Amino acid sequence: MHPHSIKNINFNGRKVLLRVDFNVPVDEQHHITDDTRMREAMPTINKLMSDGAAVILMSHFGRPKNGFDPKFSLQMVVSHLEELVGRPVKFTQELLGPTVSKMAAELRPGEILLLENTRFYAGETKGDPQLAEEFAKLGDCFVNDAFGAAHREHASNAVIARFFPNDKYFGFLMEHEVSNLKRLMEQPQRPFTAIIGGSKVSSKIDILQNLVDKVDNMIIIGGMRYTFTKALGGKIGNSIHEDDKMEIALELMREMERRGVKYYLPTDSVIADAFSNDANTRIVPSNDVPDGWESMDCGPESCKAIKEIVLASKTILWNGPAGVFELPTFAKGTREIANYVAEACRNGAFAAVGGGDSVAAVDQMGIADQLSYVSTGGGAMLEYLEGRELPGIKAVED
Ligand code: 3PG
Repeated sequence: MHPHSIKNINFNGRKVLLRVDFNVPVDEQHHITDDTRMREAMPTINKLMSDGAAVILMSHFGRPKNGFDPKFSLQMVVSHLEELVGRPVKFTQELLGPTVSKMAAELRPGEILLLENTRFYAGETKGDPQLAEEFAKLGDCFVNDAFGAAHREHASNAVIARFFPNDKYFGFLMEHEVSNLKRLMEQPQRPFTAIIGGSKVSSKIDILQNLVDKVDNMIIIGGMRYTFTKALGGKIGNSIHEDDKMEIALELMREMERRGVKYYLPTDSVIADAFSNDANTRIVPSNDVPDGWESMDCGPESCKAIKEIVLASKTILWNGPAGVFELPTFAKGTREIANYVAEACRNGAFAAVGGGDSVAAVDQMGIADQLSYVSTGGGAMLEYLEGRELPGIKAVED
């Protein structure tokens, strides 16, 4: 249990400021298309409710630029939140001021008040201490359950914690994320295998560099591996790559060799003559892609090799798909890898998946519930994997 866990604290009669990340995807009619982040916050809300606390919820939503904008109002999550908590939720579209202070002061045990989007305040994203203090005055303790925003040093999720030096906690979601990330990066059972994919090396360099002294095996998949293949003198046709990152790719491979990390680049590729689900396809060696063709997925020989490495691992980190999984013709490599990781978990391995596309991929493959840990944080998880300190975590732990 984390020393800042809410588990053994009784919040009866207290007015809790609970920072959540309700930055959920919505469609054009403002219907929530994926409520994972809201559902994941429920254990904390339910615990506070059953203790008899009054709960003031704060969240950002989207990236509004100039104060109030109905497109970014948290009004759109209220009715779904009421369904999830099974009780009415008070909501105020007013920003901080006498009305909000009065509503907060009059909030009774067992009641929930949701504040309007914290990013409607200019000071939020600047981490303004005065704004943080205004938020802090509404409650008598602070619980941070917004892992998705933990990489932001904003007023309502990080700076606010300094106003509660002895009364700041992690909610269950945050505690779960933090303990899993620490387990992954600080005490991994070996062999530890990282599977890093996605289209660009440039967006994953910091992660790769941070992982070289932690993992035993590094599997580099997705479009970014063609920068490595080209750097090694391979013929990659029209496959996505970054010429200006080839030297870094070579240096990373040299570093892995120096450290005894076994790295694996897929040896065969599914290539296409157009970026389309209906394109003509072929399977070729990954270092012999003809001109006019581009790689869209890893091939069967590569899947077999990846399976062996994954099933022999005790700890697995997966970030980034193997190919263009959004197009069904090219989803096979990503699906196969998802199945191997799930199988490894059934055999007792610890597997973590996180960061944008990878979570979308495991959701699409329907295996999220078979994995040890799927992070709710996109950017936050990536920054943690890059070895950076996350302000939302530090503010509570300090
Ligand atoms: C996310 O969706 O990754 C978090 O809610 C953080 O949002 P942001 O990138 O707009 O800060």
